[in-house]
Amino acid sequence: MKKKILVTGGTGYIGSHTTVELIEEGFEPIIIDNLYNSEAVVVDRIQKITGVKPHLEIFDLCDQEKLDRFIQKNNDISAVIHFAAYKAVGESVNKPLEYYRNNLLSLIYLLDIMKHHGIPSLVFSSSCTVYGQPEKLPVTENAPLQPATSPYGNTKQIGESIIRDTTVSDKNIKAISLRYFNPIGAHPSALIGELPRGIPENLVPFLTQTGYGIREELKVFGNDYNTPDGSCIRDYLHVVDLAKAHVIAIKRLIEGKSKTNYEVFNLGTGKGVSVLEAIKSFERVSGIKLKYKIVGRRAGDIEKIWANPSYANKELGWKTLSSLDEAMKTAWDWEKMFRNNKL
Ligand code: WQD
Repeated sequence: MKKKILVTGGTGYIGSHTTVELIEEGFEPIIIDNLYNSEAVVVDRIQKITGVKPHLEIFDLCDQEKLDRFIQKNNDISAVIHFAAYKAVGESVNKPLEYYRNNLLSLIYLLDIMKHHGIPSLVFSSSCTVYGQPEKLPVTENAPLQPATSPYGNTKQIGESIIRDTTVSDKNIKAISLRYFNPIGAHPSALIGELPRGIPENLVPFLTQTGYGIREELKVFGNDYNTPDGSCIRDYLHVVDLAKAHVIAIKRLIEGKSKTNYEVFNLGTGKGVSVLEAIKSFERVSGIKLKYKIVGRRAGDIEKIWANPSYANKELGWKTLSSLDEAMKTAWDWEKMFRNNKL
């Protein structure tokens, strides 16, 4: 009998890639998504990749009654992976209440329902944003968490505390928070990928849209940072490597292999890459000379961050497999596939 895994936000960027990996590992993912930042057609594309069309329920996790009815109907859920959240740093500064309400209320309702229905395991989609600008690099899981630089980052910090405190108060709940660094790229089939609504906030989708000619030019937000080439440094990991880590985390919880009721793992390559180096990677894999302009810094950006992934490497037996160029090529292949309407 396949174990049923609830994937909230499962038609989104990381959620859809994780749903593919869950199916390929013999699980039965079931998705709740309100399609705020994704499209229902993603489940058809997942079916093209895996041969399995995951069940999709379309509603908002903040609708407590609907969520309770859903869990009553699906009383054989073994674990939950919680992706559903608003995640645009800039937008969160302009709409803090929407971010706190959506990201925190949905998590609180989900935990309540899990406790009520005896669902014991949760994997939480967290972010390296919780670190702010780390004093020491590469950053480890026990680095002090600096005050969040955005309401989005704060919802991740508070979310982790809510989960940790719940696992302390209720020994039946075990959880793992996965702190993502910068996920990029797309499934090698180019049937699913990152599809931001409107003007992309994140670097790589803006890069590939500029390469395709949808955007006039890329604005590089600052080259006066204290880094080798002056542009910000991040840890870009392939989204499929990231998705695989979620399956490992789910197995760890279901098989009772967690060391404590609440664990945290950094998911990154361990390598810092600057914005200008990312542009060069795109130019190598696409053969296109990218049009870009150096402009002023973006508010809220930290200067540099990259992971020390050794704890996840050792404890989860997980590490990233794709190089920057390999990940960037999948992002470019996805952009072309999607824009050429081959989907
Ligand atoms: C990366 C670098 C920008 C766009 C955010 C979230 C984080 C995670 C990943 C969820 C920065 C520069 C960007 C552009 C640019 N999300 N940039 N021109 O801000 O590191 O992280 O996304 O888990 O939680 O905070 O990612 O891709 O926006 O920026 O120069 O048009 O690219 O200044 O240095 P970020 P990003």
